[in-house]
Amino acid sequence: MHASEEPAHADYFALRNRLLGPLRNRFLTADQLCEAGRLMCGRPESLSLYGIPAPEMAAREIRILGRTAIECTKDPHPIAIAGVIADIEAITPEADGEAMVVDLFCGSGNIGHHLGRCLGRPVYASELDPVVYEAGRRNLDRIGSTVRLRHADYRDLLGALPARSERDVYIVEPSWGRAFTSEGLDLTRTSPPVPEIIGHIQRSRGHVPCLVVVETSDRVVRGSLDTWCGKAVHLRTLAPKPFPPHRTGSRFHFYRLSESREADPLKWTP
Ligand SMILES: C[S@@+](CC[C@H](N)C(=O)[O-])C[C@H]1O[C@@H](n2cnc3c(N)ncnc32)[C@H](O)[C@@H]1O
Repeated sequence: MHASEEPAHADYFALRNRLLGPLRNRFLTADQLCEAGRLMCGRPESLSLYGIPAPEMAAREIRILGRTAIECTKDPHPIAIAGVIADIEAITPEADGEAMVVDLFCGSGNIGHHLGRCLGRPVYASELDPVVYEAGRRNLDRIGSTVRLRHADYRDLLGALPARSERDVYIVEPSWGRAFTSEGLDLTRTSPPVPEIIGHIQRSRGHVPCLVVVETSDRVVRGSLDTWCGKAVHLRTLAPKPFPPHRTGSRFHFYRLSESREADPLKWTP
C-alpha cells in the first residue's frame, strides 16, 4: 500500500466496523450511503444496487441496512456474472426444462434481481435473518422485481425446489464471519460451510447436474475451494476489477456440479 492510501484504508476499516457494529440493523441515511460509496467504492455513485446509485437511493425509497452495505454484491458484478453464465451456456448443449436461478443467501437480492432480468429466468431466493429479509423484500417490491423471496433457511428453499433443468443456477454466498482469516477466506468455515451447502444442493436435485456460482474474497485459504469439489468441474473464475480505495476484490467461481453420488461433498473430511 502507498503511504497516500493509508488514510483511506483506515477510514474504510473504521466505516466497516460501524456498518457491521452499531449501524448493522439500521437503515443508512442518504449521507451515510454516500459516505459508504466514497469509502468502499471510491465515489458515492459507485455504490449501486438494483441499478440505483447511492445518491439516488433515498429518492427512490431504497433502504439499505448497515450490514447489507458491506455484505451485498454491488453493481456491476451481478451483470458480469450473468455474462459469464451466458458464455458458458453458449458452448454447452441445450437442456430440457425451464431453467431457474436460486439465490440461496440473498441479502439485498441484488444478484438474483439482475440475473433474473439478464437471463429471463424465474428467480427463487431465501434469506434467514428477519431484518435483512424485510429490507430486501421491501426494496425488491419498490423496484418491481420478480424475485420470489422467502424468509427461510436455504435448506427449506432447496427442499421446495426440485431440479428443473441442467441449466439451473445456484448462487452461494453464505456469511463469512470467522471464515475470514489472515490467510484468506476459509470456505470450510463459512456459516454454513460451503461443502455442506453443495451437498444439500446436490441432494435436493437428485444429483441432476447444474451450475453453481460461489462468491469469495480475492484470497482463499489454500485448498479450501478444492476440497468440496469432488467431481465438480471448475469452469471459470470471474475476477472483477476491485473497487478503490480498499482494493480487496471479489471472485466468482463457476462450477458444473456432476451427477455422481460418490462425489457427495459431505464426504469431505478436514
Ligand atoms: C454475505 S451475505 C449475502 C449478500 C448477498 N449476496 C447480497 O448481494 O446482498 C449472506 C446472507 O445470508 C444470510 N444467511 C445466513 N445463513 C442463512 C441460511 N441458513 N439460510 C438463508 N440465508 C442465510 C445472512 O443473513 C446474509 O444476509
